[in-house]
Amino acid sequence: MGVTMSSTTVSKSRIFSGIQPTGNLHLGNYLGAIRNWVALQDEFESIYCVVDLHAITVPQDPMQLRQSTREVTASLIAAGISTERSILFNQSRVLQHAQLAWTFNCVARLGWLNRMTQFKEKAGKNRENATVGLYSYPTLMAADILAYKATHVPVGEDQKQHLELTRDIAQAFNSAYDVDFFPLPEPQIFGSATRVMSLRNGSSKMSKSDNSEYSRINLTDDKDVITQKIRKAKTDPEPLPSSPEGLKGRAEAQNLVGIYAALADVTVESVLQEYGGRGFGNFKPALAELAVAKLSPIGEKMRLLLESPEDIDHILDEGAARAEAIAAPIVEKVNDIVGFLGHK
Ligand code: AMP
Ligand code: TRP
Repeated sequence: MGVTMSSTTVSKSRIFSGIQPTGNLHLGNYLGAIRNWVALQDEFESIYCVVDLHAITVPQDPMQLRQSTREVTASLIAAGISTERSILFNQSRVLQHAQLAWTFNCVARLGWLNRMTQFKEKAGKNRENATVGLYSYPTLMAADILAYKATHVPVGEDQKQHLELTRDIAQAFNSAYDVDFFPLPEPQIFGSATRVMSLRNGSSKMSKSDNSEYSRINLTDDKDVITQKIRKAKTDPEPLPSSPEGLKGRAEAQNLVGIYAALADVTVESVLQEYGGRGFGNFKPALAELAVAKLSPIGEKMRLLLESPEDIDHILDEGAARAEAIAAPIVEKVNDIVGFLGHK
């Protein structure tokens, strides 16, 4: 379904997205990212990447990094990513990412990177001690996307700024070299529950770095753990309202209703039509039942896959070969445009 353009073949719409192999995936990753990746692979040529190069922007234990790479790969497959229809691989296997990132480091400006809020958050107070890699993280992300000339990038809200930078880099490259080479990729931000909040605090994001296990539901949690975490989730004493306006100022209630709507694939309005006027004693068991029905099969499949790590490694080998076949001619052309001798 591709169209041929000069020396490379690009399809009309190509999806690229990435996820870091750090720790357990949780409900926020599932509703904000993975679930959408699964839906998109029917419609688009899709490339999904476990970004191990990004992971080492902060210290990682090598054994743990290998293990997390397998775990994240297993959870993507368990959640429904097809390794036939989509390409699934780990970033470090395709050298073109790092190569193109260097060229982009020489296109992007300090001023652009200085605005990145994720760097400020991750570097914290001790900025002098952050790695150069953490600072230039977004130019590598731009390389991930543009090494495939991807046109659409499904991400959560928090990655929007990096996507905008990717577009700026694509445009700056095209104009510096007077070419019309890179497309400007579009973010695809989905649905009602794109931002899943902590179960302990409705105003902070559900995150793998939160100290409290009760703040998040991991994809590996079993039935009992899921049920218990929902039972203990923070709420307020009021019954649920019958329309979304009534959720204003009630961050925890809004979060739980949003999670229910996303898992059931219905609107917040329709959840409130059913549960408006009822208390959390009534709503939480229904939410727990729904979450268990949707999530526990994923956890079970994931555990099964992880029993054969060599099969996972084999899937990643094949994915890397397919990814490289797309990225190599594109980055080769970039090298030629830039003026590196011996490329075409
Ligand atoms: P991270 O866990 O930060 O590496 O994010 C992996 C993917 O999951 C990205 O596309 C994020 O936007 C998405 N994501 C992470 N946390 C959440 C959350 N609490 N709500 C929605 N999406 C999230
Ligand atoms: N930065 C993204 C995150 O933290 C992960 C990522 C790396 C990514 N490369 C990407 C997402 C390319 C989309 C496209 O979640």
